[in-house]
Amino acid sequence: MTRLLAWVGVVGLPIVVITVLWFGRRDFTQPNVVLPTQMAESPAPRPQDPEPDLPDHMALQLAPEGTRSVDAQPFHYGPSLAERKRAGRELVNPTPDSPAVLKNGKRLYETFCLPCHGVGGNGDGPLIPKFPNPPSFRSKQTMALTDGEMFHTITLGLRKMASYASQLEPKERWEVIRYIRTFQKEGKP
Ligand code: HEC
Repeated sequence: MTRLLAWVGVVGLPIVVITVLWFGRRDFTQPNVVLPTQMAESPAPRPQDPEPDLPDHMALQLAPEGTRSVDAQPFHYGPSLAERKRAGRELVNPTPDSPAVLKNGKRLYETFCLPCHGVGGNGDGPLIPKFPNPPSFRSKQTMALTDGEMFHTITLGLRKMASYASQLEPKERWEVIRYIRTFQKEGKP
């Protein structure tokens, strides 16, 4: 009898313990007990999720029509040349003719305008002749443009030149214009 108990203790007990541990094992990368608090799993849909309850079944919705960003600046001019003239009469460059403005204007000019308009604004940038020549900023017609007319051109584009409104904030457009004026002050090439 004692022998039997000894056998059970030496062989049976470890088997029982190992079996219990084996079936009771768990994945330690997963949470232990999940309480139904809904705090771990947010019910809010993620932007790319489908959303069956909405008419277009998409979680990510467009902003309602007419929504504007808080710093949006309305531009009340049409694309015609007459409208460009009107913008030229009504709009005033709000940036000062200061070294900081000219420095930023130069950087923006060299990034966005130089490829066509050229280093010195002569309409001979590296994209020419793959793209038609723009007029020199020192040509008679361009010298005669007011800041507002240039702003209109950068904002809405002009014939072959596309709009740069999505690349340059309004303030940056005015700064580029300040920089363009420095070519013109140097006079004719
Ligand atoms: C892809 C080439 C290209 C780029 C880049 C470009 N322009 Fe032009 N730009 C032109 C062409 C071409 C014209 C002439 C458009 C026409 O009259 O058909 C023009 C015309 C203009 C005019 C009007 C000139 C006039 O006499 O009426 C202004 C002002 C001007 N560009 C400013 C800029 C500024 C500022 C930038 C940079 C933000 C810029 N452009 C970038 C090609 C370009």
